[in-house]
Amino acid sequence: MSSNNQILLTSVGSYLPKKKISNDNLAKIMDTSDEWIKKRTGIKFRHFVEDNELTSDMGTNAAEQAILNARLKANDIDLIIVATTTPDNTFPSTASKIQRNIGCKAISFDVQAVCAGFVYAISIGASMLKDGYGDKCLIVGADSMSKILDWNDRSTAVLFGDGAGAVILEKTTAVNEFVHNDKWGILATKIFTNGEYYDLLNTDGGVSKSKSTGFLRMNGKEIFKHAVEKLSSSLLMCLEVSNMDIRDIDWFIPHQANQRIIDAVSNKIKIPQEKIISTISIHGNTSAASIPLALDVATKKGNIKNGNILALQAIGGGLSWGSLILKIGKPS
Ligand code: UT7
Repeated sequence: MSSNNQILLTSVGSYLPKKKISNDNLAKIMDTSDEWIKKRTGIKFRHFVEDNELTSDMGTNAAEQAILNARLKANDIDLIIVATTTPDNTFPSTASKIQRNIGCKAISFDVQAVCAGFVYAISIGASMLKDGYGDKCLIVGADSMSKILDWNDRSTAVLFGDGAGAVILEKTTAVNEFVHNDKWGILATKIFTNGEYYDLLNTDGGVSKSKSTGFLRMNGKEIFKHAVEKLSSSLLMCLEVSNMDIRDIDWFIPHQANQRIIDAVSNKIKIPQEKIISTISIHGNTSAASIPLALDVATKKGNIKNGNILALQAIGGGLSWGSLILKIGKPS
């Protein structure tokens, strides 16, 4: 392993299912209101898959876009890591299905870290590329959360949406290794798990527990507190590792779970509001897809540019959480 290897994030893609669901649509089937949902979460819309639309279908669409944007072919991909909580089948991995769909022979597997899955998958992918498992890695975050929601539980059913996002990681030897502070790609990652909080956010069933998938259950108030503390602390650790200050970050892309969590983290560690990418109002919480979806929206708008420093922050069931800092794109 060469210490000069840099792991660049060179391309993004995303996919949203066509069916767009407003808060008013939900208020027709449960005791809730547009006013409550907007005020308590910031969510206005979310997208849901059709019954016959699979997590792998969304992931494949996002992956194909990311591969195209990177000017690569599917065959160039050496490694596929899919972060998902809602796989097509109990086994094999959704990554195997996406591999088949896009047509390549990459090493392919899923990562289960719920809403933190995308940050986990990038950390794992970057380490594997450094360790010699190939030069190009496709990371997909894809979830069909609508399929594990209990429509009788208004405290969770209004929060989630479906979608997929994908990025390409590419290994390269350091281009400007002698130029001070001109490192590109993944600059710092910190990921954590604490199983003591297993019961705060989980499904009430599973293969070995009930031979079923179960429905999503959450202690929202407790998760809210952990989210604010852990999203903040993991990002501060990344800043320390990369010898950076919060002012060095161009864009913050937090997990999109609740606008109030995003605002509380911003107040706690003094993140300027105008540097935060928030898509919670149009996507809801799409679990592992939330960060790459937001990244793609901001990239397509032209907000995020080659060479910008990004901070990503995520937390989900487990509890699993983490942050990472990267310089997006590649030196020209
Ligand atoms: O992706 C993983 C990370 N997930 C999260 O980070 C989610 C974290 N938690 C949250 O975002 C918030 O805790 C929620 C949005 C889930 C809930 O917000 P809250 O301000 O903590 O509300 P609450 O649970 O304290 O409920 C307040 C009231 C209750 O009524 P009473 O007991 O005060 O009469 C609830 O029954 O709001 C009621 N309520 C609703 N009312 C209308 C709960 N859900 C709804 C609803 N519509 N959908």
